[in-house]
Amino acid sequence: MTYFFVSDLHVDFYVPVTRTVAVLRKHFEVFFERNFLPADACCIAGDIANNYYTYVEFLKFIAEKYSTVYVCLGNHDIITEYIGRFETDREFTTSESKIKYFLAEAEKIPNIQLLENRIAGDVAGCMGMCDFKYKHTPGASEISNKILWATRWFDGIHWRYMQNNTDKLWRHYDRAFRKLTAQRPKIMTSHFLPLEFDMAERYKHDPCSNFFYFHGAKYLENMDDGSIWQAGHTHTAIKREYTDRLGKRHLLLCNPVGYPDEDPYTEHGLKREDFLVEVGKS
Ligand SMILES: [Fe+2]
Ligand SMILES: [Fe+2]
Repeated sequence: MTYFFVSDLHVDFYVPVTRTVAVLRKHFEVFFERNFLPADACCIAGDIANNYYTYVEFLKFIAEKYSTVYVCLGNHDIITEYIGRFETDREFTTSESKIKYFLAEAEKIPNIQLLENRIAGDVAGCMGMCDFKYKHTPGASEISNKILWATRWFDGIHWRYMQNNTDKLWRHYDRAFRKLTAQRPKIMTSHFLPLEFDMAERYKHDPCSNFFYFHGAKYLENMDDGSIWQAGHTHTAIKREYTDRLGKRHLLLCNPVGYPDEDPYTEHGLKREDFLVEVGKS
């Protein structure tokens, strides 16, 4: 069974702000041709759209292209704030209410599996969160990372999720990662990245880099040899094999579309065909 792995679609940057479904679908088609490949199933690791309407219409569109589409949420998908060009007529007072709305809408679409802390067949998924523990300098601290997140970072500003309580958020997703990987899925999909993906040199000394990553070794160890972890969030394509402490090998995949002025494939010389992967049936 072939899977196409992709993330960080940020569709709002590629389609007009409109409620005319025919116009949206015409633009989705161009976007699909440019960024996707045919496969049996598709896994999308979050950041589909800031705008809830575009998000749901895209789910309806993509559901027709594959026998199953697995999706996890991204940090952009759960924003509640009105941002610039992304007009919205619907107020979400909390990220929880937006997530609830998406889960209900996804439920109505055949072929869509929106995975927020659950497993469906061979694929487990959740958005995930950073653990605030990466230190870009020896003087950095978990507490200073958390303050910077809450006061300056996109998520801290635009989410209203678990009262934006950083301890609560990480505890929630730490539990989710433990619970999901303990079920030994063939594929685990999250928006935030395990640090085992490796951080590009240019991010290593940036205080904001810790907002993308968590230490993932203990979760990867739960999974079987030959399993796949797909993530998104950083807009650099990554495909590498990681060997855990127990000697098991895991394929790590990150295939972001990114923003129109970005080129995620250049750094590691990858192409979209690299993210079309054959996965044996269980
Ligand atoms: Fe993104
Ligand atoms: Fe993201």
